[in-house]
Amino acid sequence: MKTFLPLLVLLALCQPALAFWNYCGTCGFRPMASYHGTSRVVGGVSAQPGAWPWIVSIQQAVGAGMGHICGGSLISSQWVLTAAHCFVGTGRTYYVLAGITYFNKPGPEAQLRHVRRILLHRGYDNDTMSNDIALLELDQPVQCGYQVQLACVPDASLHVAELTNCWVSGWGATRARAGDLPLGLQEARVYLIDLNICNSSHWYAGAIHSHNLCAGYPQGRIDTCQGDSGGPLVCQAKNADYFWLVGVTSWGTGCARVRKPGIYTSTQHFYRWILVQMGLYPCLG
Ligand code: ARG
Repeated sequence: MKTFLPLLVLLALCQPALAFWNYCGTCGFRPMASYHGTSRVVGGVSAQPGAWPWIVSIQQAVGAGMGHICGGSLISSQWVLTAAHCFVGTGRTYYVLAGITYFNKPGPEAQLRHVRRILLHRGYDNDTMSNDIALLELDQPVQCGYQVQLACVPDASLHVAELTNCWVSGWGATRARAGDLPLGLQEARVYLIDLNICNSSHWYAGAIHSHNLCAGYPQGRIDTCQGDSGGPLVCQAKNADYFWLVGVTSWGTGCARVRKPGIYTSTQHFYRWILVQMGLYPCLG
């Protein structure tokens, strides 16, 4: 009996590692958030490593190196959900970096993948920004871990407007004018804003589509910005400890301006489209 006890303790301690390492089964959990405590975003703060484990940086070859262009979210180990407008004028080579927080300090779970296919929504319109959604298929699956997890895409049954703990994250500009890019991932809490208010005359005056979400603050100051596009708008599920990927960062007039909150593509409106693209629709439909 005496020799058994330490073994049991060890096993118990190892549980989280067994549960999370290379396990992509359950979406929306933030294994590092409980560890740290819950703690080109303008007005945000630096995120802790692994705080938003589904976020990826979509990069493009520039000269001999690579440069960040947009954010994205892992929705399966081989698919990234992002914005269509990130890929206008394609023909370039894109890469996906998962498991990173600081570009200059990749960390133990950092993984680089090539993009096998870019699937843009056919209805994407560069002028009206409608259907600003795209999927990237990776050449190889990512390995899940403490800092790499999948985001949960809601179907039409989720009452998104009732969710109150919502967050954006990204490597986009931290100031609208200067356009300075941070080295580390930024995060900010935002509030969902009713579409009728968002579309009213002193706000976006009718430019918002029914498949959009507005999120931010009426007074501005905190918002996503250039370089955050494609990245996640997530909200905590009611009375639960996981998050829903409710939006994909799409656009805004300037950044962090009064009555000009961020505009996001609502993922639940594209649930079917996503499944069809991933080849899952016949199974789950
Ligand atoms: N379109 C921008 C991009 O390509 C994201 C804009 C978000 N803007 C905003 N004000 N929330 O990165």
